[in-house]
Amino acid sequence: MSDQIIGGKSFTAVAINCAAKAGEWIKTKLGNHTSLSLKYSAQDLVTEVDKGAEMMIRNLVQTHFPDHSFLGEEGVEPGPEASTRALQSVRDAEYLWVVDPLDGTTNFVHSFPFFSVSIALAHRGEVIVGVVYDPIRDELFVAEKGKGAYVRGRRMGVSSEQNLRESLIATGFPADPNYALPLNMKGLQALVPQVRNIRSGGSAALHMAYVAAGRLSGFWELGLNAWDLAAGSLLVTESGGRLTDIKGNPYDLGVRHVVASNAHIHDEFLHALQQAESGN
Ligand code: IPD
Ligand code: CA
Ligand code: CA
Ligand code: CA
Repeated sequence: MSDQIIGGKSFTAVAINCAAKAGEWIKTKLGNHTSLSLKYSAQDLVTEVDKGAEMMIRNLVQTHFPDHSFLGEEGVEPGPEASTRALQSVRDAEYLWVVDPLDGTTNFVHSFPFFSVSIALAHRGEVIVGVVYDPIRDELFVAEKGKGAYVRGRRMGVSSEQNLRESLIATGFPADPNYALPLNMKGLQALVPQVRNIRSGGSAALHMAYVAAGRLSGFWELGLNAWDLAAGSLLVTESGGRLTDIKGNPYDLGVRHVVASNAHIHDEFLHALQQAESGN
């Protein structure tokens, strides 16, 4: 991508390098992290590995692109208000790296092998590179704006299910258990009887990557942050999927209540969630 090369390094190559280095290091720490603390709630965990991985990525990005802005989960005060403020302060930057160094900390802490590194680069608020890396399966998901999305170097495409009845859907639950709890429960209750089944793997970024790869028909979750979604957003759209907020508005970096799908089921999926929300 000649238009994305600065100082001989392409943005995508740096993003991949960061994800691979952080992911490999995280894997060596599985089962032997040494510090565990709570952030916003008793269910919001952080370890020295989350912080170390973010520092590793930030240093690498700054070495290559010292003028770029950086938004990483561990550099932001916990809680939705602080994350909104942090995003506002950088969202119009010319180049902004949006990084979740370890998506799925709870899984990591319990040695449940489903977590990822999520790295996106946005240009004036629009995601142009998205990389999600699963170090356990050594699976690298990469998308470049307008150039498609790839897993293990092979082009990805979304699944072909045409309706909810045939769909495998994923969701997740916010780290603050009380955040939008009634809405979460209503959505779940409405969807369970309408779909083939529901999964909750515990890494929003991997759920998005799985929608892109055609392994899930759709994914929704309330209360996410820019770093959970930015990289996965491009994976989904570059694989032919659709991505909106729960009201059906197009995705942007500020979206928290996300609905991602193979596009075919999107309207039915939105309708089911909106019906559940309004109690009909
Ligand atoms: C969490 C994961 C999880 C989702 C939570 C997120 P973290 O991110 O993506 O799947 O359900 O809402 O907070 O804290 O492990 O990076
Ligand atoms: Ca976290
Ligand atoms: Ca996350
Ligand atoms: Ca994280």
